[in-house]
Amino acid sequence: MTTQPQAPFAGANALVYGAAKGIGRAVALEFARRGAKVAVADIDEAAARDTAAAIVAAGGEAIGLVANVLSDESVRAAAEAAESAYGAIDILVNNVGGLLNGHPEDIPMSEWQRMMDLNYFAAVRSISLLMPRMQARGSGHIVNTASFAGLYPYAASRIPYAAAKAAVIAMTESLAIYLQPQGIRVSCLIPGPVLTGVLDTMTSWTPDCPMRGPGSELEIKRVDDVAITLANGMRDGKVLIPTDEKAWDIIRRWAASPDAFIQAKIEQFASGDSGLPIVPPAPRR
Ligand SMILES: NC(=O)c1ccc[n+]([C@@H]2O[C@H](COP(=O)([O-])OP(=O)(O)OC[C@H]3O[C@@H](n4cnc5c(N)ncnc54)[C@H](O)[C@@H]3O)[C@@H](O)[C@H]2O)c1
Repeated sequence: MTTQPQAPFAGANALVYGAAKGIGRAVALEFARRGAKVAVADIDEAAARDTAAAIVAAGGEAIGLVANVLSDESVRAAAEAAESAYGAIDILVNNVGGLLNGHPEDIPMSEWQRMMDLNYFAAVRSISLLMPRMQARGSGHIVNTASFAGLYPYAASRIPYAAAKAAVIAMTESLAIYLQPQGIRVSCLIPGPVLTGVLDTMTSWTPDCPMRGPGSELEIKRVDDVAITLANGMRDGKVLIPTDEKAWDIIRRWAASPDAFIQAKIEQFASGDSGLPIVPPAPRR
């Protein structure tokens, strides 16, 4: 990695929860490439240290930390370790999330709760801790990771996840309105389908429940491209940062008539089109 200092990353201290693997790992690497010092926090401590080591090996600055975003204590300990290594946190990324699959009548209440805890309250937890410190300094950047599933209706095979990600988007948009006049930037990374291991950790509550995808016109993105999209969006002062610009066309169709959009989804799924995205061709070597 050749470090390329770029605002708002050059000299900034970033703390990324959920950065050991997948999108978070790529985001940590990209922030470091742009000149940030990165605290890589994750429940998988060995993988967090591995990501940090990859950044350091490439010429960047990083530390790997253990953090369980479901625990106040653990989130606080990781933030304090990051602050004592680098100083005040300029960029906070809440990237942890998890999926499930199943019909709503088969999903126990505890799983609806877990989806909110992992995808939504985890972000609230670290924001509650670090936002007041950013307000006191009058600077900072908060990033929360949502999903297309929270942006427009299609994710009928994982309704608790869709609802939690919609909450993330609503919270992030309102935080932007509240915090930007105080000098704090706020962004929401909104991934469509991205090639990661996220499906490996997915629990299925209904045997053979078909996955409902965001649209077969979408291509599955690679994590490196997602990280660049996020970093460019942050640099350009964007609040909502979808991983695919086609999201805006879909949103326009939804906004023109939400009822017609929902009816069309019902008909699409009934016809056997699950809306699964296009698998990209293997990269050329
Ligand atoms: N991959 C996709 O297609 C996709 C699409 C839309 C949204 N997203 C969202 O993007 C984010 C990242 O997803 P990903 O695909 O890279 O997933 P991933 O499973 O590859 O990575 C998730 C990371 O979070 C960590 N993690 C899990 N539980 C944790 C906990 N309790 N505390 C701390 N860390 C924990 C994991 O160890 C892992 O490193 C998630 O919020 C996900 O919902 C992903």
